[in-house]
Amino acid sequence: MNPTEGGSRTCVLVLAAGAPWESTALPALTGRPGMVVLKRCVDVTDLMAAATTGEASVAVLSLDAPGLDAAAVHHLRLHGIEPVAVLADPAREDLRDRLHRLGMRFAIGVAQVDHLPDAVLAAAAADHQDSEPTREGPAVGPGRGRTIVVWGPTGAPGRTTVALAVAGELARRGAAPLVLDIDPWGGSVGQHLGVLDEVSGLLACARTAAAGDLPGAYLGLQRRVAGLRVITGLPRPDRWVEVRSGVVDQLIDLGRRQGEVVVDTGFALEEDLSAELAGRPGRNGMTLEAIAAADDLVVVGSADPVGLSRLARGLVELRELTGGRPVHVVINRMRASLGWSESDVAGMLGGFAELAGLHFLPDDRATTDRALLAGRMLSELGESSLSRAVAALVDGLRPGTGRVSKRRLRS
Ligand SMILES: Nc1ncnc2c1ncn2[C@@H]1O[C@H](COP(=O)(O)OP(=O)(O)O)[C@@H](O)[C@H]1O
Ligand SMILES: [Mg+2]
Repeated sequence: MNPTEGGSRTCVLVLAAGAPWESTALPALTGRPGMVVLKRCVDVTDLMAAATTGEASVAVLSLDAPGLDAAAVHHLRLHGIEPVAVLADPAREDLRDRLHRLGMRFAIGVAQVDHLPDAVLAAAAADHQDSEPTREGPAVGPGRGRTIVVWGPTGAPGRTTVALAVAGELARRGAAPLVLDIDPWGGSVGQHLGVLDEVSGLLACARTAAAGDLPGAYLGLQRRVAGLRVITGLPRPDRWVEVRSGVVDQLIDLGRRQGEVVVDTGFALEEDLSAELAGRPGRNGMTLEAIAAADDLVVVGSADPVGLSRLARGLVELRELTGGRPVHVVINRMRASLGWSESDVAGMLGGFAELAGLHFLPDDRATTDRALLAGRMLSELGESSLSRAVAALVDGLRPGTGRVSKRRLRS
């Protein structure tokens, strides 16, 4: 669901200061349902006056508008307005420096102005209180996002289900997490969310990265679904070859500047040395890149005997890869008919990994089927034993985020 649906409007002020991008920006903004351009301001003084009416939530600016300084940016924020800069070239160091000095967090390249409405929505969703500027680059967020990478061994233990459930719960707590589907064996996030017949976000990012344009373009390649920002995965497993090394790393880095990132990966961890020697990416390269970039690693295994033995082997493999960093283990589809308790499972897994947390999700086919058939997230379906267990998992991953005010609830 687009945040502009359901009657809420996003009101925008524009200060182009004569820059030619205005003629592309205005139709892009006004063409987006729910987006209104309140005023084309003639100068910074005009913008400051328009800001005080309290209607706008975003201002789109030319960085070289005369008189634009940090005080002006501060004035906008005081009135609940998040500025978005349109930059001649997002890669230029001097422009990034200027953004940083102004305390601005959102920017888009002139070549991507047709994606401006997406940057405006991201800025409108930003939290004004916690804003810390960063000089890392354009399209930047508060610079405090962390990356949760969800991995799990073969046998469909529920990596995608867990990744989306965690992201949905983070969204319910007021974040607007980015979900990256980088499973090199075929994406399924789009299917889980009922987003079908779309261009693959990942392949579009891969193409843009090859042209060097990813920082400016990637905001526009995210789909907004029910409080999440989503980069959908591979439409067919054989297209993994199109994603070159470094793309996943760059996407995670960009995403983290905007906020929380949740990554859904593949099952295999083997490196393909022959491919890498030949200068091609190995098939599991995307998964390995994500694991290397993770702030938090979540490993999902099935609670049944086959699943648990695969999980134990997977944890050993992962330990060799990461040098034994602690992981959050999720035992999925736990059920009484298996005949073992949570402490039995904890005992079985002891010694295979350093645990940052051990979490159990119940087998709840009725709820997951409902979610899959409707293309909805668990957090949209109301309370269930599964949603409560997911909330406990997110408490473990992000302690202290559970108590949210109504104002910050999005779902
Ligand atoms: N806790 C659960 N209870 C019941 N079914 C589940 C649960 N977790 C996942 N599933 C189901 O298992 C199947 C595989 O899940 P999925 O997340 O796509 O696995 P993976 O991404 O590991 O391949 C899906 O049909 C999903 O709905
Ligand atoms: Mg999956």
